[in-house]
Amino acid sequence: MSLQPYYEESYHTERGRSATELMHEVTTYSKGLFNFVVESKNRFLPNVDWSGLKILEMGAGRGGLGLLLARLGAQVTLVDFSPTALDQAKMIFALEGLEVKTIQGDVTHPDLMLPHKYDIIVDSHLLHCLTEDPDRSSYYQLIRDHLSENGIFVAESMVHRKKLFIPDGFMFDEKNVLWQMFGKWTPIRRILDSLDLEKELSDAHFNIVYFYYYGQYGFVPHRSFMDIPAEILPAAVRMVVQKKQL
Ligand SMILES: C[S@@+](CC[C@H](N)C(=O)[O-])C[C@H]1O[C@@H](n2cnc3c(N)ncnc32)[C@H](O)[C@@H]1O
Repeated sequence: MSLQPYYEESYHTERGRSATELMHEVTTYSKGLFNFVVESKNRFLPNVDWSGLKILEMGAGRGGLGLLLARLGAQVTLVDFSPTALDQAKMIFALEGLEVKTIQGDVTHPDLMLPHKYDIIVDSHLLHCLTEDPDRSSYYQLIRDHLSENGIFVAESMVHRKKLFIPDGFMFDEKNVLWQMFGKWTPIRRILDSLDLEKELSDAHFNIVYFYYYGQYGFVPHRSFMDIPAEILPAAVRMVVQKKQL
């Protein structure tokens, strides 16, 4: 089932906020992952200048990570299925006179057309929003189809830990899917064990060149999980993968 209306509604309720306020919020939120993307670029693509880089941000929302990368001179394209999020992203980029391309589409849809191959594809918290198996494989296929030969996919995602706190109104099933009750049970997150995530990436024909488990980090899957101790929240992984040469 598509969660597009759920995300669209959450961005829509914030449309009264100013572009400056949103810009500060999204750039502050994205700083940590931005530093990781910069380190990964310097390590795996050391000979390319930022101004020569095409970067695609998947599930970009308001494009905070993309904005920080555009400030370095990269050519940034944002993909999201929420038109309101992409409108807010365009307003934020325009504040600084930075160019951005936006593509509204569902990353799990096999017919989604993207115009280029990209040197870096980034994913800030989208992967764990894709709860169903065919959707995750379509997403991996989209990434493989649009990564340049030596391109890198850099992502941060939520992963499972043995003890997870599940508040009222949520349930967690045997496939590691977190469900929320909105009138009916709705799958909102897939919180895989990190070893299963590594296997999934390898089965999807990626070479994992960096994979780090942040056990001390408590990832808040939804605002109902605020104020819960980190050790009973999901943990995080940061990863860099490349296409396996076939
Ligand atoms: C958890 S939010 C992360 C937003 C942003 N990347 C960040 O880190 O703040 C997930 C984003 O992915 C988008 N999204 C979720 N599923 C999607 C799909 N199947 N296709 C395209 N975008 C999707 C949502 O609209 C939302 O903007």
